[in-house]
Amino acid sequence: MSAPILAVIGGGQLARMMQEEASVLGIHLRTLVEAPNGAAAQVTVDAPVGRADDADAVRALVAGAAAVTFEHEHQDSALLSRLQAEGLPVRPAPEALLLARDKLAMRREVEAAVLPQPAWTEIAGDAQEMRAQVRRFAAEHGWPVVVKTPRGGYDGHGVLMVDSAGLDHAEAASWLESTAAARAGHACAGAGGGGSLGGGAVTSLLVEEAVPFTRELAVLLARRPCGQIAVWPVIESVQSGGICVETVAPAPGLDPEAARHAVRIARTIAERADVTGVLAVELFAVEDSEGTRLYINELAMRPHNSGHWTQDGAVTSQFAQHLRAVLDLPLGATASIAPTTVMVNLLGGQTPAPADALARAMALDPQARIHLYGKRWRPGRKLGHVNLTTTATDPEGIAAARERARAVVAILRGES
Ligand SMILES: Nc1ncnc2c1ncn2[C@@H]1O[C@H](COP(=O)(O)OP(=O)(O)OP(=O)(O)O)[C@@H](O)[C@H]1O
Ligand SMILES: [Mg+2]
Repeated sequence: MSAPILAVIGGGQLARMMQEEASVLGIHLRTLVEAPNGAAAQVTVDAPVGRADDADAVRALVAGAAAVTFEHEHQDSALLSRLQAEGLPVRPAPEALLLARDKLAMRREVEAAVLPQPAWTEIAGDAQEMRAQVRRFAAEHGWPVVVKTPRGGYDGHGVLMVDSAGLDHAEAASWLESTAAARAGHACAGAGGGGSLGGGAVTSLLVEEAVPFTRELAVLLARRPCGQIAVWPVIESVQSGGICVETVAPAPGLDPEAARHAVRIARTIAERADVTGVLAVELFAVEDSEGTRLYINELAMRPHNSGHWTQDGAVTSQFAQHLRAVLDLPLGATASIAPTTVMVNLLGGQTPAPADALARAMALDPQARIHLYGKRWRPGRKLGHVNLTTTATDPEGIAAARERARAVVAILRGES
């Protein structure tokens, strides 16, 4: 057996966790990292430093590789299309990746696929015109509304919940101004739009109704170029300040019909868009006496925070599966290995954790599976996560498991 080379663009924690599984499977990962001391570079032997939009760096990266894949969506799609045209397997392909990179493109595709999503509209023009467009949308769908930058957002950056007064507040106002300015500049400069990574200047914004969800769910699947699909159980995810903080797998008490519906939604997207690799579909669920309604929030085409639980709670982790899928290797089983798995993210606390935090966290709960990314501390930054499996499926038992995982994370944050 000769080890296939898989090229990966991006050197954060997702590439780092791909490397863990690549080592196990004898796959040679070659990762284009932003800095020589980043999360992935610390553990990857073959980790050239370069930018994702540096054509020479990317060409050197993919030389001799069986395929190229990504750990983030902010890619130079023109460059990827050229490489694809030259015969390199780009997985997922740029046409599919666009749906994870551009929330407006995603909303249009979901509409074309007749899948459920929040009411939405695109706003563009000068700041005054955009304010009027938001007001018209809110008159129809109610306040508050959610304003999003179509590209470049992550962890809640690029998402604003605004009420009628909020439109004039600093952040919303500055978005409207800069979007209008970019559009004006774009019109003067002609095509091109700046050509920055992530798809150029933002010249319009996405506005959505604020869905009064009872909880957020996510469906994670992997798809091979040959069409094979494997789906993990639907999970519940909890966000705080736009950042995923906890997940519970499977989503406790979810109506089985709603779970099947969620899976159908994800499969439809994967097949229509010819997605290869891991696809995460974030959903809003409104659960009431009439049943469960689902709305698509957004898509990711790479291993995703909602799938970190699979490292310790499923037969095949999302990182191993992503490698298998993009190399067109047979997929692994996605069944859970425990009745419930909880995941709690470790976000940087207000001060760095003391030197003995890791030892104390380990001592507190030997069952906890601690994952650290080797990243420098910063308040709010994703530094790691803790997975914990439990035999419990009842609300009290699951709550207790969450408390245990939180207690471990609290020590790692330096809080106790
Ligand atoms: N239309 C909406 N209605 C209600 N809440 C919303 C809506 N859109 C976004 N949110 C809330 O904001 C969070 C972040 O939104 P979104 O997933 O679009 O942003 P993001 O920064 O791209 O996220 P990610 O970190 O997952 O890439 C959602 O998980 C949800 O809690
Ligand atoms: Mg999201």
